Amino acid sequence: MTTAAKKYLVTGGAGYVGSVVAAHLLERGHRVTVLDDLSTGFAEGVPEGAEFIEGRIQDAAKWLDESYDGVLHFAAFSQVGESVAKPEKYWENNVGGTMALLAAMREAGVRRLVFSSTAATYGEPESVPITESAPTAPTSPYGASKLAVDHMIGGECAAHGLAAVSLRYFNVAGAHGSLGERHAPESHLIPLVLQVALGEREAISVYGEDYPTADGTCVRDYIHVADLAEAHLLALDAMTADEVPAGEHLVCNLGNGNGFSVREVVETVRAVTGHPIPEITAARRPGDPAALVASADTARERLGWTPSRPDLADVVADAWAFAQERAGVRP
Ligand SMILES: NC(=O)c1ccc[n+]([C@@H]2O[C@H](COP(=O)([O-])OP(=O)(O)OC[C@H]3O[C@@H](n4cnc5c(N)ncnc54)[C@H](O)[C@@H]3O)[C@@H](O)[C@H]2O)c1
Repeated sequence: MTTAAKKYLVTGGAGYVGSVVAAHLLERGHRVTVLDDLSTGFAEGVPEGAEFIEGRIQDAAKWLDESYDGVLHFAAFSQVGESVAKPEKYWENNVGGTMALLAAMREAGVRRLVFSSTAATYGEPESVPITESAPTAPTSPYGASKLAVDHMIGGECAAHGLAAVSLRYFNVAGAHGSLGERHAPESHLIPLVLQVALGEREAISVYGEDYPTADGTCVRDYIHVADLAEAHLLALDAMTADEVPAGEHLVCNLGNGNGFSVREVVETVRAVTGHPIPEITAARRPGDPAALVASADTARERLGWTPSRPDLADVVADAWAFAQERAGVRP
């Protein structure tokens, strides 16, 4: 579906996922304003052609007005371990910040929202693949803060006629040209293994080899960031076409539906980079579920979304090209 050019506010558009989605919006001819306080993002991550406001979502009312057709809301803190140590930081930013953003949207009459939710809202799954009707029992303040926002958005839709799509990402990976993953500290597996290939880290720790999975290591669902970006554009199209009408809050899981084990990821990085990638076997980490794999049937049925890069080697190859460019060692 093609839609006329629109104007969108992208919160967190200097971060990993937000910058890639902002770039896709611009490539489709939309106007984009990025609102980001650079707390974990980078000014150079804001794609060329986007207007950039350095500021907090807590102050969104200063900038949001009726000229916007919708908001894509990525801004959040997302480190699980940090959220256990400093839960108040997560409630203030993720929940308090979103409350202020929703109030600013209501005030300005901006009535369409796409929200970055997460598989962490489900916690330890009873069965996989995980559907949106699975019980939500987050095991960290981070997951709980995202679930609280999902509830808040549901109420806003029902009471005030917002149209919203919460996209529950599983493990986002890969890069879009010069836009890629650079969290500090890094906690995601693929960039960590690539740090070993770059010589920035001696070995990769494998936490637990006795899980009830085919090779004993944890299984996760890796979704290419460009496929994820496509889902955001489809969500906007669905709201513009009233397929997700005012008053509806649609929740969709986004994943490949294919799980890959930690060992398969390490093997794939060895194949892509040619580096031996030494491993250190470590104890299980508390709260790490054996397998997290998405059922993305709702996204397929309601948004017409199909991941076009399901091959782990493609995801790793794009992340590797980005990591080499960042490290200045691109061949
Ligand atoms: N990366 C993943 O695998 C993954 C998985 C599930 C969900 N998510 C969600 O997707 C979103 C984006 O994740 P990411 O990996 O790109 O993270 P990121 O840290 O790279 O990006 C988040 C951005 O939000 C900005 N930000 C944070 N608080 C802000 C505030 N109060 N006001 C303005 N800007 C603020 C940061 O500076 C950063 O640029 C997050 O909401 C995260 O919870 C990510």
